[in-house]
Amino acid sequence: MPHSVRSPVSDNAVPSSSPEVVPVVDDKFPHSARIYDWWLGGKDNFAADRAMGAAMLEAIPNLREMAMENRRFVHRVTRHLVLQAGIRQFLDIGTGIPTRPNLHDVAQALAPETRVVYVDNDPLVLAHARALMMSTPQGRTAYIHADLRRPEAILTDTTLTDTLDLNQPVALAVIAVLMLLGDDEDPAGKLRTLMQALPSGSYLTITHPTQDFDPEAVGAAVAAATRGGMTLVPRSRSEVERFFDGWELIEPGLVPVTAWRPDSTNTTEPHTAYYWSGVARKP
Ligand SMILES: C[S@@+](CC[C@H](N)C(=O)[O-])C[C@H]1O[C@@H](n2cnc3c(N)ncnc32)[C@H](O)[C@@H]1O
Repeated sequence: MPHSVRSPVSDNAVPSSSPEVVPVVDDKFPHSARIYDWWLGGKDNFAADRAMGAAMLEAIPNLREMAMENRRFVHRVTRHLVLQAGIRQFLDIGTGIPTRPNLHDVAQALAPETRVVYVDNDPLVLAHARALMMSTPQGRTAYIHADLRRPEAILTDTTLTDTLDLNQPVALAVIAVLMLLGDDEDPAGKLRTLMQALPSGSYLTITHPTQDFDPEAVGAAVAAATRGGMTLVPRSRSEVERFFDGWELIEPGLVPVTAWRPDSTNTTEPHTAYYWSGVARKP
């Protein structure tokens, strides 16, 4: 069963320690959310996460910058979707440990009425859900502890249906997550279930690591992840493009994460950011 927590307004959040929600964090095995947190300079990680993060850094020394560039991409896309596309609803799957500004901080600063539902399957992210729910009074943020591999459970969760109106456009964000699902887990099929539930005018935004730019370095990082028991599947440009099937990629199309409508905050050269990124609109 997914756990859900809601916060209609900033000081009215249901604490994640509510009796129905008991996060159990296993610190013996590395986990993507905590490795990512360590790369971003956070404190919510354990020795196993730092060891794995360091092994991957050895293979790709600019991984920390890449993680930062992913965050900057989220901020740029969110600003674009709110300001240019008029989006007021977001569904962010694989949210990660809160890192300010979070998606709703960016969106609600521009349009306070924006509603955001966050989804992650890491108990440590659930433990931090309160930080993700500091909504403006006019808007709303909510958190669902659930798994992308079970999209029906996400779509039918009452926290989602109470927070988002699925008759109005929604921006679905799947940022640095799909590489954690192997092909045998049918990531495209899981995504498709979510995409089909959204109306015309909705958006899909994806970033995904690739071996296209530096096969050797990324191959070494994947080998380190595999040795630690983690699934990590880099995908080619055409494989990532297929996730958007049927939706229209908006300008500039599928590009390295730093090359998507760059602004003055970009610091990494496109060819050293080994992530494809794109934003598409449902016709
Ligand atoms: C690399 S982090 C990216 C975090 C965030 N999207 C960002 O770009 O800053 C991947 C996140 O996806 C979550 N995740 C991994 N597999 C998942 C799944 N099957 N369902 C839901 N969340 C998942 C992890 O717990 C982690 O928080």
